[in-house]
Amino acid sequence: MSRKPFVAGNWKMNMLRSDAEKLVNELKPLLEGIDSVDAAVCPTFTALGKVADALAGSKIMLGAQNIHTVEKDGAFAQNGAYTGELSAEMLKDACVSWVILGHSERRQYFGETDAGVNAKVKSCFAQSLKPIVCVGETLAERDLEQTNAVVEVQIRGCFAGIPADQAKECVIAYEPVWAIGTGRTATPQQAQDVHAHIRSVLASMYDKATADAIRIQYGGSMKPGNAAELLAQPDIDGGLIGGASLKAEDFAAIIKAGVK
Ligand code: 13P
Repeated sequence: MSRKPFVAGNWKMNMLRSDAEKLVNELKPLLEGIDSVDAAVCPTFTALGKVADALAGSKIMLGAQNIHTVEKDGAFAQNGAYTGELSAEMLKDACVSWVILGHSERRQYFGETDAGVNAKVKSCFAQSLKPIVCVGETLAERDLEQTNAVVEVQIRGCFAGIPADQAKECVIAYEPVWAIGTGRTATPQQAQDVHAHIRSVLASMYDKATADAIRIQYGGSMKPGNAAELLAQPDIDGGLIGGASLKAEDFAAIIKAGVK
């Protein structure tokens, strides 16, 4: 099963609008002619409009870092009295196609749960947005050899009730919490082992064909210097890049490392 690699930049709470526009304008020529790897940038909400304009006519896709999901009268509310929040319809209106969900920073600082992510996945599909669902263990969990169990619970919770045809459209990002922003990357073998485990969980929830279709990104201190060996692993289908996505040359180098 060949899966097209997908590298996305999670800009987190970085980049004013002018910096965002500059970065995208530097990135575009660097990615000219690269068709075998999908690329996306996920700016802050305030920079979405600027970045969408700068991306016009380019193959680089636009993502957001969160969404607000609330069910009202059996449907997902797309507007209403939810101060400070943005609906799926609003993101779609801002030219977004991907939404990062359940990032460990949102789980840690904002109390996101697998059940909440699950509702967000459903609300994304209701507006034809595609989710990037983040999972990953803490260092304490890894040390206790709970990694596989932790990611299995996360995957089962986040994908509960999601039909196979939608699951195939989702991307999963395996991001070991201890590797995020620490400079400490999972070894290619450590990452591959968890990716293969995630795929086996998906195969047991759905079937092998569905599991084989789902792209699983690695995230956590991925850089130009370690991208190629991570991306060479059979179950690593791309990356979700934090720090290194804030520099056009570094982000482009990671994307190029995914070209087969
Ligand atoms: P870093 O690449 O900065 O470690 O961040 C990874 C990440 O959290 C991407 O979502």
